[in-house]
This record gives sequence, structure tokens and C-alpha cells, in this order.
Amino acid sequence: MIKPCSLLLRSCPAKAVHKKRMVPLAIRVPGLSQPVPESIFTSLRWRPPISSTSTLLARSFQHSKLASSSPTTPGGSQVTQSAIDLIVDYLTNTNAQLGADYSVSAVSTARVESAAEEARKLFNAESNSEIAFGPSSTSNLENLARGLEPDIQPGDEFIVTGEHEANCGPWKKLAARRGAVVKYWHSTPTHPNNPYSFSLKVEDLLPLITAKTRIVAFTATSNLLGSVVPVQEITRALRADAAAKGAKKVEVSIDCVAYAPHRRMDVKAWDIDFCVFSFYKLYAPHISALYIRSSALASSVTSIVHHFIAPVVPYLLSLTPANDLDATFAAIAAHETQLATKLLTFLTAPEQVKRGVFVVGIEEPSVNRLPTVSFVVAGDRPLNSRDVVRVFDEHGGIGIRYGHFYAYDLATRLPPPVDKENGVVRISLVHYNTLEEVDTILGVLKGVLA
Ligand SMILES: Cc1ncc(COP(=O)(O)O)c(C=O)c1O
Repeated sequence: MIKPCSLLLRSCPAKAVHKKRMVPLAIRVPGLSQPVPESIFTSLRWRPPISSTSTLLARSFQHSKLASSSPTTPGGSQVTQSAIDLIVDYLTNTNAQLGADYSVSAVSTARVESAAEEARKLFNAESNSEIAFGPSSTSNLENLARGLEPDIQPGDEFIVTGEHEANCGPWKKLAARRGAVVKYWHSTPTHPNNPYSFSLKVEDLLPLITAKTRIVAFTATSNLLGSVVPVQEITRALRADAAAKGAKKVEVSIDCVAYAPHRRMDVKAWDIDFCVFSFYKLYAPHISALYIRSSALASSVTSIVHHFIAPVVPYLLSLTPANDLDATFAAIAAHETQLATKLLTFLTAPEQVKRGVFVVGIEEPSVNRLPTVSFVVAGDRPLNSRDVVRVFDEHGGIGIRYGHFYAYDLATRLPPPVDKENGVVRISLVHYNTLEEVDTILGVLKGVLA
């Protein structure tokens, strides 16, 4: 009988690597109370062996082959070699019908069940039975909405944000099917001089809540704006307000697809009912994990279950010597804050402001500002977002993207509106990117803006 956990751990040579580096330096990061030892950043520079795909991004993830390329994470992250090895091993040796009595099926079932434990840890859920897998977060949330359908009554109210359609579209369609009402909680401006600087604010949410509120769905981080939304504070406030107004059953659905690679999820502390993220942003293939709180499983949702293997936790644990997910995400937050600070400092410098550059999202670097940085070039000599990205493509080795990124409502509400086809330019970085890579990006940008 294979022990799934030992299989996962075997492929992760973390300890040997961490012994090598120790630099006695501390760095203060805006928003973090304690200085972060520089040694943590050094440990983040270690990368696991990964697949030798033909993508340009893969070249830089293999540290030794960085050369002059400076990748970002335009749509998804790279995959750890341990994830690839496990999938190959699973398909080669234990691919069998699940749940049967014969021995290979028993092994296969145990391995697949171990994937739920991976996701449980990442969500910080209570139990593996609260986890379902599906091909994408979009389809998981659509399945969830369908699973909730019998429990929705005409006149129930859903509050959604105009962010990624994945946690918006399924609720709008469910409302149309069941005669429920959709209300929008919009991001509102945060900066006097930048009309594109937005964030979700709890004071805009509370007036939308009534005794009929049934679902509140929002993102922990918009894939366009990159700012971390304080889920726990918002949920606490909305639950108190809903209870005071007499709402009987409010369930909260959080989209963590853009959040999960950067910060620690905690469905228990957040007091939420549904949560989703996609492993293709978290160093594994495109599979999505959906959390459904056990009370919702018991009283709201009818069946949805899918499984696959996604061994990411060992990789994340290997990033710091502490062997603890909180330590990993604290180190990731510290390093990513440095990356975002460098990028945002450049984009908001007087020269760029004069040139007509607007950051789309919060301009001020902090631990709650992810290195997912969108911008537009307006002013006297506006630049089309597509043309900016084209220059990066011609330069080679830097994957950035332009568009609305399925945040239709948010992108079309930007004041003044941005071109619908071209949207914003988005640079997405994760912990395995380096400050030198940001320098390369800035070098190209300087040329584009000249
Ligand atoms: C914030 C956000 N939500 C949802 C999704 C959709 O995830 P999936 O492609 O797994 O459906 C994305 C994808 O980029 C995203 O950034």
C-alpha cells in the first residue's frame, strides 16, 4: 500500500538546499510589523526542478538558464517537477477506476484522496470532505451554483462584484433561473489624482444588505487590481449587518484564484462558506479546488465531487526552513512586496505620471498590494495596451498580457473608460521572480514610454 504523503514528500529536496544560505540581514516591508530576514528572500530564490517545457517562462524558472529573459506569470505559473513526476507515476502505475476493491484501485483511491488533504491544508479547511475538484474555477463555481439551485427562492438577493466573471456569472445565471435579484458591490476610487485607482470598500457593501440577502460573492484579490481584500473583516461586518437586518441565511463565496499564489487562505478564520482557487496559478496543472463548508454541504448544496492529484504543499513548505505554510506565505508576501514596490515606484514616478501612465488599482506599495500590476498609458500621447505588449513580445522572453481579463464590468467601468478591446496592460509576478527581472521589465518599459 503506497502512503500518499511520503510519496509527496520524497520528491522535495528542500532541506539540503536550505542549509546552504544564511545572510544576516533584515529588510523592513511596508505593512509587516517585523523586519523580514534577508535569508528568507534568499531561500525563495531556490527553485524546484521543473518541467522542460518550450515556453519562454520555463527558461527563467530554471534559475541557471535565466540568461537575459525576464518572465512574468501572465496567466498561470510554472509546474513543479514533483507535480509532474507524481502525475506521470499515477498514470503509469496506479491509474484505475476509483473506489473498487482490487488492490490497484485501492492504491489509486488513496492517492487521489491525498489530493484533498493538499487542498484542505491550503484552504485551512476543517475536513477533506469539504473539498471538491473540478477542471477550472469557472466550472467549479458554475457547478456550485447549480448545486445550490434547489435552495434558492424567488426574491433572494445575491451581491456580486464586477470582477472576474467566474464568481459573478454563475450567480447571475442562477438568479435568472430562480427569480433572485442581483446587486453589484462596485470598487470605488481610492486616490485623488488617479481615476483608475479603485478598491472594494465595506462601506459600499453594507447598504446593499437586506433581510433577503442570500449570497455575497467577491474576490480575495482582483486579477486586474492586485490589491488584497480584507476578507475576514468584510465577512465579519457583513454577517453582523445581515443578522441585524434579519437575514436568515447568508452564504459567502470567495474567489481566491488570483490570491492563492501570493497569500495564505484561511476559510475558517474568514468564516466563509465557499472558496475556490486554481492549481495552475499555484505551481501545478490546471485543476481547481472548491471548498464547501460542511454546514453548507449539509443544508444548501446538492452533489458535486471531482478529484485529481496536485502536490503543491511540499513545494510551498520547501520555500523556507520553517516547514510551515504561514512562514512560507509570510516570506512570499515579503519578497513579492519588494517586487511590487519596485514596479509601482517606477510607474508612479513624476516622469511616468507626466507621460500619462495610470496604475489601475492601488498605487501605494504595501503588503496588501500584490505584484499583479495593471496600467494604462493615456495623456497627450496615449498608447494602446496591445501595442505596449507587442513591444515586450518583440523583445522576447517577457510574458505580459493586455485585455479585460474576464473582469468585464470592472474594465468597462473605468473612468475614463479604456478601450474595450485592448483593456489594460498587466504585469503579473510571483515569488520566483527576482528584482533583476523587474529591472529588465522596467528597461523595456522605459523604451516603450520614451
Ligand atoms: C480572479 C480570477 N478568478 C477566476 C479565474 C478563472 O479561473 P479558471 O481559469 O480556473 O476558471 C481567474 C483566471 O485567471 C482569475 O484570475
